[in-house]
Amino acid sequence: MRQLWSALVTVTAASLTAAVMLVPARPAAADPPATTLAEAAHRTGRHFGVGVSGHKLADPVYAGIVDREFDGLTPENELKLDATEPLQGRFTFAAGDRVVDHAESRGQRVRGQTLLWHAAQPSWLVNLRGAALRQAMLDHVTQVVAHYRGRVAAWDVVGEAFADGTSGARRDSNFQRTGDDWIEAAFRAARAADPDAKLCYNDYNVENWSHAKTQAVHRMVRDFRSRGVPIDCVGLQSHFTAYHPVPADFAATLRAFADLGVDVELTELDIEGSGAAQADAYRRAVRACLEVSGCTGITVWGVRDSDSWRSSGTPLLFDSTGARKPAYTAVLDTLNRFPATRHVPVR
Ligand code: G3I
Repeated sequence: MRQLWSALVTVTAASLTAAVMLVPARPAAADPPATTLAEAAHRTGRHFGVGVSGHKLADPVYAGIVDREFDGLTPENELKLDATEPLQGRFTFAAGDRVVDHAESRGQRVRGQTLLWHAAQPSWLVNLRGAALRQAMLDHVTQVVAHYRGRVAAWDVVGEAFADGTSGARRDSNFQRTGDDWIEAAFRAARAADPDAKLCYNDYNVENWSHAKTQAVHRMVRDFRSRGVPIDCVGLQSHFTAYHPVPADFAATLRAFADLGVDVELTELDIEGSGAAQADAYRRAVRACLEVSGCTGITVWGVRDSDSWRSSGTPLLFDSTGARKPAYTAVLDTLNRFPATRHVPVR
């Protein structure tokens, strides 16, 4: 009897194993479509975030959309230089903490921006020069990153350090005048302050591969990678208009950066326009990211059109009442159509 039972168990186990092997895993394509941006993006192995203003999180319509649709928050202004160090050595983190606390309480990831940026500088910093300025820059990076150690997943360490136009040169700024190595010094300081944070360079007008600025940033990242400067990702802001549309070679640009061994992200996506044309442009931008496995996340630069830094261009996914626009539907649909076979884990 004991032998019979043992044989039965063996046969049953073998049949079960065979059955498990024969029945294919249910394809993700058969799952009902995701109903939020974060869920749909998550299924493709990506994040879908939003730039937020901390004080607006008290608005239930605003916060309702933020918490329903997005798995990442970027404080739009609260972590900038003028907000975090209004007086030299006197750091104010209350506004930043408010956004970071909100994100943490809802399991959302935080992108911090921007540690060193030519704009939004407090007056004390603007008045410094040379070695004193360089030291102040690095102290700022160290203090802010250390304060948020383990809480901010990715930092835009430096933003917008290259000039527009055809020169491919660095932007002239007080930071640049401290010496060409200011960017790498900032990345090293950030790495030392939080070894686990993802460190990014972030810029606009770097979406077209042929542009001199794109080429210059690409050369810098290649140089950094070859010399061991700690850079993990490149943020392409992706502010598009009728005059600066989503380029046909956007995916090629993203791939060219990813081929350097860094992740890429669309960090401030917004596209001026309305209706079907805007929806189509959003579809193309999202598709470009999905085509590149190293494109790990998309962040839109605001919630409702009325929240945008350029609200007259109605560039966002929700209208001023908080209703979903055709652009929203296009983005959700594009994410949902991503082939199940190409899904990768969220990083
Ligand atoms: O908070 C004050 C408020 O107290 C005051 O009443 C009001 C009067 O104008 O100004 C408010 O501050 C403004 C802040 O946005 C909040 O609305 C600043 O003047 C204004 O300069 C600031 O603009 C931000 C801009 O960066 C400059 O820092 C935008 O919100 C923000 O969307 C924009 O974001 C940048 C990215 O950081 C980098 N890439 C480009 C992008 C667009 O410019």
